[in-house]
Amino acid sequence: MKPKRDRAEPKLDPAEVRALYQLFREEAGLVFHQDMESFIERKLHTRMVALGFELFSQYVEFLISPEGRREIEMALDEVTTHETYFFREEFQLRVFRDQVLPRLRAASESRRRLNLWSAGCSTGEEAYTLSILLDDLDLEGWDVRVVGTDLSRRCIQQARRGVYGPASFRSTPREDLARFFVDDPDGARIHGPARDRCVFTQMNLLFPERSALVGLADAVFCRNVLIYLAEDARQRVLETLFDRMSPGGYLFLGHAESLLNVTSDFEAVHFHGDVVYRRPERGTFSRSRRPPV
Ligand SMILES: C[S@@+](CC[C@H](N)C(=O)[O-])C[C@H]1O[C@@H](n2cnc3c(N)ncnc32)[C@H](O)[C@@H]1O
Repeated sequence: MKPKRDRAEPKLDPAEVRALYQLFREEAGLVFHQDMESFIERKLHTRMVALGFELFSQYVEFLISPEGRREIEMALDEVTTHETYFFREEFQLRVFRDQVLPRLRAASESRRRLNLWSAGCSTGEEAYTLSILLDDLDLEGWDVRVVGTDLSRRCIQQARRGVYGPASFRSTPREDLARFFVDDPDGARIHGPARDRCVFTQMNLLFPERSALVGLADAVFCRNVLIYLAEDARQRVLETLFDRMSPGGYLFLGHAESLLNVTSDFEAVHFHGDVVYRRPERGTFSRSRRPPV
């Protein structure tokens, strides 16, 4: 039987919901549907209590005040989906490993440098997966790096720690688990070159200032991120990705995501098994197609 509550749980009123939705959209480009109110309420209740507020009106007021800047990050962390695991969307990773990587390797032979970016990496499984896939390539003497970035500082801290529980390994081949991970009291910890190639940093993809840290990426994985963003935010993010990709670099999106009706600045390359986007060798992102912000 559920424990009886002394008083009703605090509720968000429609004006508070509007204020929160506007804040999440401005700060991270995130859109939430009207029927997600109770989800938001549940997620933010913990934050409200942690800060000692009794009413949502007090919490929302704090959040939109200058003192609430830091709390916005915590609130965004609560309401965003961080679902991820190693070897997610395996068919796409096979295309990357067997068809895209050999091309990238050949194209980068003279400078012997390869730079991959997991944009919206959550707790790091995607970045480490790419690094594991690189391990079978003969890249002796190459400068190889996988950069993982995410809006959530908590996720980035977890990614840097590199320790994972069973849910992260639901699609990991047994031999990869044995080869790239060691036992840890909290699960399994990635180790060796596959770990050393990865660096993680917090970054909001909506604001490009920090993206220079990535350098120029030969391949970007931005999977299952755009799906949560408003149309204008998607365009802004795609412009940042475009600008931070080497000409001829590849862009991988989640299977439910596409650039249709967003931008035609990337070209679609048909590989055996999947279509992958690519930054053309020439040309810049057409700002004219960006709706006013
Ligand atoms: C569902 S996870 C995707 C993880 C991984 N790419 C994958 O496909 O398994 C989405 C991640 O995008 C991040 N995210 C959402 N909006 C973002 C933004 N504006 N800038 C950077 N990261 C963002 C969230 O924090 C979350 O960790």
